Amino acid sequence: MMFCLSFSSISSNPLRVCVVGSGPAGFYTAEKMLKAHQQAQVDIIDRLPTPFGLVRSGVAPDHPETKIVINQFSRVAQQERCSFLGNVNLGSSISLSELRELYHVVVLAYGAESDRSLGIPGENLKGVHSAREFVWWYNGHPDGQNLEPDLKSTDTAVILGQGNVALDVARILLRPTTELATTDIASHALATLEESSIRVVYLVGRRGPAQAACTAKELREILGIHNVDIFIQESDLLLTPVDEEELKSNRIQRRVHELLSKAARSKPKHTGLNQRELHFVFFRKPNSFQESKERADHVSGVHFEKTVLQGVSSGKQIAIGSGEFEDIKCGMVLKSIGYKSVPVDGLPFDHKRGIVPNDRGRVLSDPSNPLVPENGLYVCGWLKRGPTGIIGTNLYCAEETVSSISEDLEKGRLIPSSALPKPGREGLLQLLHDRNVRTVSFSDWEKIDSEEKRLGSSRNKPREKLATRDELYKTIS
Ligand SMILES: Cc1cc2nc3c(=O)[nH]c(=O)nc-3n(C[C@H](O)[C@H](O)[C@H](O)COP(=O)(O)OP(=O)(O)OC[C@H]3O[C@@H](n4cnc5c(N)ncnc54)[C@H](O)[C@@H]3O)c2cc1C
Ligand SMILES: NC(=O)c1ccc[n+]([C@@H]2O[C@H](COP(=O)([O-])OP(=O)(O)OC[C@H]3O[C@@H](n4cnc5c(N)ncnc54)[C@H](OP(=O)(O)O)[C@@H]3O)[C@@H](O)[C@H]2O)c1
Repeated sequence: MMFCLSFSSISSNPLRVCVVGSGPAGFYTAEKMLKAHQQAQVDIIDRLPTPFGLVRSGVAPDHPETKIVINQFSRVAQQERCSFLGNVNLGSSISLSELRELYHVVVLAYGAESDRSLGIPGENLKGVHSAREFVWWYNGHPDGQNLEPDLKSTDTAVILGQGNVALDVARILLRPTTELATTDIASHALATLEESSIRVVYLVGRRGPAQAACTAKELREILGIHNVDIFIQESDLLLTPVDEEELKSNRIQRRVHELLSKAARSKPKHTGLNQRELHFVFFRKPNSFQESKERADHVSGVHFEKTVLQGVSSGKQIAIGSGEFEDIKCGMVLKSIGYKSVPVDGLPFDHKRGIVPNDRGRVLSDPSNPLVPENGLYVCGWLKRGPTGIIGTNLYCAEETVSSISEDLEKGRLIPSSALPKPGREGLLQLLHDRNVRTVSFSDWEKIDSEEKRLGSSRNKPREKLATRDELYKTIS
């Protein structure tokens, strides 16, 4: 309590907080910290010149309403006690130990920027991409521009996984480009999609329709695309008693199963022109990717093993190979089996779960000893929980992390290092200046934002994303 008073009464010694990552977890953490601690000064750093994480580079272009949360995040960044510093990469611009020297509290909220891998033969063939790369590409992420997926040499794509990301990428491949043209989709992606010859998409799950990871609203949307015929084997929809037990306690999955059952019974729409097919395939796990005989190093299909489900614990069934195999021929594969966080030097990391070990947001170097967390180091969002949950989930996650910080401040757990004033933002800016790191402020971002909106308005789009670092910097210089 004494320590808490020393922060709140000495304005020259603010509580210096650095949040790494400007996605939902980072912004919700900043918002909660500023509210809970009137003497806190919060700096949000991001490796990109643009803020908002997956709200900008993940959420699908045809879901503009989801991106409205950006207004709330902008109001946080505009507060006097908050600042955004883009183009600051934890790990290359600055190390974790340096950041901890500069700030009393460091909250890591840098998400999950890699992919789970299948570890099966052929995974590196051309034409096999992760959904993350594909999403970055169509959303104008500066690191996604070079993907250049070949959508012209094939009429068939296979998507592995049946979560909401899988539905997003399937929808982008199938939706008429006239509908995408008025979204904030990157212009390079729209041009490629306009020339796409992909007509058939397989969405393949290793388990059954009762276990599909997508949610009902997103499923209803893709089932409703007007030029797409849906194919589902009715026999796959039969429920075992264990499935029925699972569905009883899960309203969303029950709804998903109902929607799939209805779609399986529906007649093809036959709208004629530009007709496309979406096949939901269940109980198949990828065994290997096949190489094309005509195009060396290029994928030509996926070799699947049929599966059966086996209960491992109450309410949880896993897919087991049945020894029967089947191929699906295709010219492109998108692996949508989940994102993965990556560690930085000096950070405790659970490689198996792909998260930072933590006790309600407090980073633990020894997970078996939650009573001794890392001093002043916290975690939030996908890096804390793993790569699941919608934007709103990160609000609760941030509340938990901030309440751990508040508790540690109140109980004096942060006293030894943080009773001393810390350099915070000034120290960070000096260090970055010495290293020739060109930082991007929130007002710089506002210039980018205006320019993107201006470019978009002439094309009937909400914005035209500047998709390279060069274009972004040109706008603010
Ligand atoms: C394709 C896709 C679509 C989605 N669509 C929806 C949707 O429609 N609705 C919904 O509610 N949820 C959606 N979600 C889920 C939602 O986006 C996540 O729950 C949320 O973004 C996770 O927040 P986060 O802050 O942990 O990570 P992120 O949003 O990924 O933010 C992490 C930030 O950290 C930065 N960063 C990474 N590494 C470093 C580093 N070394 N140094 C500095 N900064 C770094 C990144 O640039 C990024 O800005 C979607 C997810 C995906 C993948
Ligand atoms: N509109 C929205 O609200 C929206 C949009 C996009 C994303 N999101 C959210 O973002 C989060 C991440 O979505 P996500 O789709 O990446 O993840 P997800 O929901 O966890 O789905 C992952 C999918 O990959 C499958 N999978 C995992 N490992 C596999 C393997 N080795 N082989 C074959 N299949 C495998 C899973 O099958 P099993 O079930 O068998 O493991 C599941 O079908 C989710 O919480 C999602 O709801 C929301």
